[in-house]
Amino acid sequence: MRTIRFQFSHGGYIRQETVERTVSIIGLEAINVETDFNYLFPELAKDPNSLLPADNTADVIDKLKKLGEAMIEVQSDPEEANSTIPPVYTYWGQFIDHDITANTDRTAQDLQTDITKDDFTPLSPDFVTDKLKNLRRPTFDLDSVYGDGPTLEPEAPTQAKDFYQEDDPVKLKVGQNAKHDASGKPIPGAKIPPEGDLKRDLPRNNRIAVIGDSRDDENLIVAQFHTAFLRFHNAVVDWVRANEPEKVKNERDLFVRAQNLVRWHYQWLVVNDFLKTLTVSGIVDSILKDGLKFYEPRNGELFMPLEFSVASYRFGHSMVRAAYDYNRNFTDEPGALADATFKLLFSFTGRGDIGGRPPGPGPFDTLPCNWIIEWDRFVNKHRAAERKRNSARKIDTHLAPPLTTMINEGEEEGLSVSIKELLKHLAKRNLLRGYLLSIPTGQSLAKRLGIPELIADELKQGNSDAINQALEPFLKKTPAWYYILKESEVRANGDSLGEVGSRIVAETFIGLMINDPFSYLNRRESDDSPWDPSKGVKLPDGGEIRVIGDFLKFAKVLL
Ligand code: HEM
Repeated sequence: MRTIRFQFSHGGYIRQETVERTVSIIGLEAINVETDFNYLFPELAKDPNSLLPADNTADVIDKLKKLGEAMIEVQSDPEEANSTIPPVYTYWGQFIDHDITANTDRTAQDLQTDITKDDFTPLSPDFVTDKLKNLRRPTFDLDSVYGDGPTLEPEAPTQAKDFYQEDDPVKLKVGQNAKHDASGKPIPGAKIPPEGDLKRDLPRNNRIAVIGDSRDDENLIVAQFHTAFLRFHNAVVDWVRANEPEKVKNERDLFVRAQNLVRWHYQWLVVNDFLKTLTVSGIVDSILKDGLKFYEPRNGELFMPLEFSVASYRFGHSMVRAAYDYNRNFTDEPGALADATFKLLFSFTGRGDIGGRPPGPGPFDTLPCNWIIEWDRFVNKHRAAERKRNSARKIDTHLAPPLTTMINEGEEEGLSVSIKELLKHLAKRNLLRGYLLSIPTGQSLAKRLGIPELIADELKQGNSDAINQALEPFLKKTPAWYYILKESEVRANGDSLGEVGSRIVAETFIGLMINDPFSYLNRRESDDSPWDPSKGVKLPDGGEIRVIGDFLKFAKVLL
């Protein structure tokens, strides 16, 4: 059996038959990297005072599970759960996670113990940094989209060759939507404009997505976001061919120029749209102007901070809704075919057999055309400000109920009922993962960052009795993931991260970009001016790509 790096399954339990099927069909490794994880603050990770107790671990594990259980709301998406953040930011956030970090959840093989054991012992920080490797480059280079690039010289084939079009290998493959079901009946529902454009799925082989990171086919919204990237890249290739023929002498030049433009647009948007929307006002500009305070490469190498991957950046889990206003067919409006529930959004993915497994109606080989996303329902800040369905859930300690029953997790044969239940429960997994990997407590991180700590009343604010009861043992030493969510909730109304979360996320993003010689922040044009969207591709009306909606328009997935 070969290892295939791009075929990820959360939790380290890859379905054997999926691996075999993928290897035999695709037969390649799209990207094979191992980079460093490390602690932003190793001195905290090594100080018992900054960690949850390491004695009586079975008791701590049990209490963490109770806290995770209590963080799940009884009611799905109540009105007060809505933030002012449009829901595209949730899945854009997930897409970014898959570009820069992978593997904190696959500890079984690497670390010889696992969160599924009832009495695991937290690992020493040295052991973690020695053994646990990030299976992504920690740069915003879209390795999750490009793999190791196209094969432009047949004598030097790339591993990602199959991601690229046979007749125009500088372009990425895009999947075709199904117009009929398996029995030949037309797919019901309204057509999604622009009608006739049915290249709006991930490329698939035997339903499995042929892309650089299979986690981008984990749920349908992130899959449609990845599809937008494939189309954006191809549209940039067309734009370069039409607008800059003098800059590209051959296919290699053309691909490199298009890829650079895609990366710089993406990176600029990550800093100026994504990060500014999700962090406290002013922090991004202050880091850009005055520099980083905490992130520094180690031994000259970029590393992925564990406080980011295992705690702070998992804030996105609390933004996930139980149901979406997805498109005209799948929403809660009268006349729609069905509601776009979390379960359906997971069912219409490769791992959900594109609706072939319950609760989907399948089988289909590719995404049915009635399931193409309508992005205008996901990007609009005015609509999100109404705090209705067109907003993400608040960043807070109250999570949507379906996050306890993730349908594509814990499905491997031979698992006990209790392990299955655990693997399907995201809040428990996050809390246990933080404990296993010795992530410093929220209070110790706040102190180190020079930010006033949350007091007990703040940690309890807005909680049900059940959460407060489960939180009692953790009031002085609070798991970082819970702390960061609660900080957002009580100090930023759940409409952005708070100070600790913002600082760790912004330092990581900008730290990775400033220290990447190829990022837009280090790009100088021939007149020595820095790169910004005025130097990039333009929309047909001449407009620049300045917000995510412009990006989706250029990809022609948003009208
Ligand atoms: C429906 C949406 C999502 C689902 C079902 C999901 C599920 C998961 C699961 C099962 C894990 C592994 C947990 C463990 O055992 O440690 C994970 C890891 C992670 N998730 Fe999510 N996630 C979602 C969205 C997001 C979003 C929106 C973000 C951030 C904005 C995010 C950030 C992360 C990060 C940083 C990791 C760790 C990645 C690594 O291994 O380095 N996720 N997620």
